[in-house]
Amino acid sequence: MRIDVLNGVNLDQLGRRDHGHYGSDSLRDLETQIYAWALELELQVRCRQTNHEGEYVDFLHAALDTADALVLNPGAWTHYSWAIRDALEPFAGPVVEVHLSDVDGREEWRRMTVLEGLTAGRVAGQGFDGYRQALGLLAERRRA
Ligand code: DQA
Repeated sequence: MRIDVLNGVNLDQLGRRDHGHYGSDSLRDLETQIYAWALELELQVRCRQTNHEGEYVDFLHAALDTADALVLNPGAWTHYSWAIRDALEPFAGPVVEVHLSDVDGREEWRRMTVLEGLTAGRVAGQGFDGYRQALGLLAERRRA
């Protein structure tokens, strides 16, 4: 199973952002962990990150031909980017939405997600481990 893990805007700043919400480790640390979990779960994972909405849309377009499943953390775009929703809509495989922080327990505007109805699962507030849980969900679906 080929999985694209797509991190969006400002996630390259992990380690410098609010440690209370996002922890103190970097994006590189996160991606290293994700690749280790993928190895354990026998999943083929590719991690990508961008701060440019159009490039994130390009990642989603590319995934139509190159990925069987997606783990998405679009960062703040989650809450307002209808372009990202539209780009995701044709993707036929399972999608899991991940947020490091507890988006439902923070500001009201973070509760809104443009991915609603397009995802097989959502993990929020679990820090880096949320990505492991997302990969676990996808590995389980592969076995089902
Ligand atoms: C985030 C939550 C978003 O509200 C925020 O804008 C982010 C990160 C998270 O992982 O908790 O940049 O997606």
